[in-house]
Amino acid sequence: MSAMKTHRQLPRWKTIKPLLGWHLPRFDGVDKKLLRCITIQDLRELSTQRVPKAVYDYVDGGANEEISLSRARETFSRVEFRPRVLRDVNEVDLGTTILGKHSNLPIIFAPTGYTRMMHHSGEIGIATVATSHNLVYSLSTMGTTSAQELGVALPNSRKWFQLYVWRDREQTKAFVKQAKDAGFEALILTVDTPVAGQRNRDIRNGLTVPPKINTKTFFNMATKVKWCFNVLTTPPLEFATFRQFTKPLSEIAATFFDPGVTFDDVSWLKTIWGGPIIVKGIQSVEDAKILAKIGVDAIVLSNHGGRQLDCGVVPLELLPEVVAAVGKKMEIYLDGGIMSGKDVLAAIGLGADAVLIGRAYLYGAMAGGMAGVDRSIHILTQEMKTTMQLTGVTSIKDFTSEYVRIRN
Ligand SMILES: Cc1cc2nc3c(=O)[nH]c(=O)nc-3n(C[C@H](O)[C@H](O)[C@H](O)COP(=O)(O)O)c2cc1C
Repeated sequence: MSAMKTHRQLPRWKTIKPLLGWHLPRFDGVDKKLLRCITIQDLRELSTQRVPKAVYDYVDGGANEEISLSRARETFSRVEFRPRVLRDVNEVDLGTTILGKHSNLPIIFAPTGYTRMMHHSGEIGIATVATSHNLVYSLSTMGTTSAQELGVALPNSRKWFQLYVWRDREQTKAFVKQAKDAGFEALILTVDTPVAGQRNRDIRNGLTVPPKINTKTFFNMATKVKWCFNVLTTPPLEFATFRQFTKPLSEIAATFFDPGVTFDDVSWLKTIWGGPIIVKGIQSVEDAKILAKIGVDAIVLSNHGGRQLDCGVVPLELLPEVVAAVGKKMEIYLDGGIMSGKDVLAAIGLGADAVLIGRAYLYGAMAGGMAGVDRSIHILTQEMKTTMQLTGVTSIKDFTSEYVRIRN
């Protein structure tokens, strides 16, 4: 066979240029590194460049050997979608109803303490982004912004207040009243924290309450110049809830958590709050059943993102059993290790009404403040939409266990 002669020409810039993603440098203040983040993992990596190691570790870390957290991630990696094809998936509706109101996504911002340390825009900045997407924001009792401040800043947003029952029940009552006065819609009672978990990274970095920052941590902080500048030129980092107290933080710390809290306290809270109650940190079917009897509005299957008990139950594995037992009596949410839109859908498919995300938005905040949080919601939204289209499902309510299972 005679060899075919290839016609050659000189490379032409006109054909090469459109293939290259190069642009002239932009000086418009747009954070290009942030725009290059296409996964939550990318935001996680970018955040290591932008905040001191101790801050990153505080967010990224878990208790003891961090096995709860790594098992949650490992379980998400075993999720298997079972797609149906030849369906019209032009339009996909990611919206759902959470406690009787529409939410654009089945995603709730989890309560996370000390948020202004991650980025100076803090709770108000992050809640502003949540509100712009019509999502619920939960304010932690351990926040750097008080319930009253958030209420004034965002009077018309959907916001829940996360509470620990304190040893001093009168003080607990006062927090409940502050949340009510500030226009919070629901109370999240966190119950997986009778005592503080042992977070080894924080202890090593000296990020304890009160802080005992060592020299290494101190000098590492100094290397993140922009972060330092922002911390030093904005109001001091503090637990906003404790501002009114005159005692030193070391003494207050001893009263944060009450190891004596029981189901009776949940019933008591119901009477003093008078609105929706969500109990967060449920890790057994039995406890879920008791709370259904008490008549709470929702529970969160959660091990605090692996920050409390290590080697705890994996919430995603527990979910189907809890849904079967109490799913008709109250809403069931899940959190821990959600890093993608696929993870959100796995939980929804296995019966959750919604999920809470913690680190997924905090990585965004550390990487780029409010724009970073917005980026994390954008990433999750796009991933959810594509996964639903490829699975052949067009609405959240139809994304059932028919489409998802966990491989053994
Ligand atoms: C930095 C950080 C601080 C947290 N602070 C609180 C808190 O004050 N109260 C609470 O109930 N949960 C707290 N959590 C747990 C979250 O509400 C949520 O359960 C957890 O982050 C979910 O796991 P994920 O981060 O992997 O999404 C915190 C989590 C993180 C990462």
